[in-house]
Amino acid sequence: MKICILKELAPAERRVAGTPETVKKFVGLGAEVAVEAGAGLTAAIADADYAAMGATVGTREAALAGADIILGVQGPEPASLAGAKPGAWIVAGLNPFVERARVDAYAAAGFEALAMEFMPRITRAQSMDILSSQSNLSGYKAVLDAAHEYGRAFPMMMTAAGTVSPAKAFIMGVGVAGLQAIATAKRLGAQVSATDVRSATKEQIESLGAKAIFVESVAGIEGEGKGGYATEMSEDYQKAQAELVSGHIAKQDIVITTALIPGKPAPRLISDAQIASMRPGSVIVDLAVEQGGNVEGAVLGEVVERHGVKIIGHKNVPSRLAADASALFARNLYNFLSAFWNKEQNAPVLDAEIGDAIRITRGGKVVSERLLESTGVTQ
Ligand code: NAI
Repeated sequence: MKICILKELAPAERRVAGTPETVKKFVGLGAEVAVEAGAGLTAAIADADYAAMGATVGTREAALAGADIILGVQGPEPASLAGAKPGAWIVAGLNPFVERARVDAYAAAGFEALAMEFMPRITRAQSMDILSSQSNLSGYKAVLDAAHEYGRAFPMMMTAAGTVSPAKAFIMGVGVAGLQAIATAKRLGAQVSATDVRSATKEQIESLGAKAIFVESVAGIEGEGKGGYATEMSEDYQKAQAELVSGHIAKQDIVITTALIPGKPAPRLISDAQIASMRPGSVIVDLAVEQGGNVEGAVLGEVVERHGVKIIGHKNVPSRLAADASALFARNLYNFLSAFWNKEQNAPVLDAEIGDAIRITRGGKVVSERLLESTGVTQ
């Protein structure tokens, strides 16, 4: 069983899918691990550190040759996999809804592609969940990015020269990223409020010491929603939410939006008119910018200014904390493969619940029901 860890080739991707820690653990399971030279450099991992844990470090071609499992943070371009054997697993964040052509190319080449972001939200898979591990870091970094662009301080400061008032921060979307954003903004001393469509989050917001701002007049999503995720809300709800948010947002200094709906464009939560109502110098971070954005006027990969308000739309926020993001991502991959490791076969053997959820291609075909349903294509 040969596992290969590739250097990420996507622009501005600084993470890596394996660390010396996970190499050591894979070797302990009985696998051979090959790492492409330089794979960890942008995440502060030297080739020698991988080698010290038992990996072979060499060219991409050598790492790929004969590999049974190819690990990646993002799905590698099919053209960059020359020499890999058909039937090899590609285990990565494959972004299958957006990268459909790439998925088709994996199928054509005979690879078995496993999309880690399709991991079901069940208790035993929590330690394998790349969305959670990466979103947590994004929520933290979003607050620091906001603080960096904000021309004022977050905490209240009583000084001899007078008092500095605390920043008011509003978090929209209280999933994994939102919860961490609340906790981080609180730690920095801001006055924090937050909202979501799932009523279960109200208690979570309050338990972190923040104020919950909720639409009460129209029903939201009771409990956790399907698989813990939100769905698209009714027009009535959206209208009530816009009214509630308009009044609140005008008084905020920092707004961080994280709202996502799986397989759909991100819901639009903040309009240009609402931005215009905010004080100049305020800062908005749109963590959903890669999925179409929660904020009107947010630009992917840029910090723009509208009506004196800065709107931050950084790409690939977890990659901005590449060392920690890689450590957690690599552990997610190890936790996944090791949980299914079959000692006799010296290989992972997946069960149906998780295997069927994350398997995207097999035997030359696209097999993911979730993906096929979303595109209406049947094969
Ligand atoms: P997500 O990244 O899909 O969405 C972020 C947040 O935006 C969610 O809380 C969602 O309800 C909210 N949202 C969607 N539309 C909105 C709108 N119009 N207005 C305001 N907010 C809106 O969510 P994430 O972070 O992946 O977490 C979703 C849930 O799944 C959480 O309850 C989390 O605790 C749970 N979870 C469970 C896991 C497990 O059991 N293995 C693992 C990870 C998360």
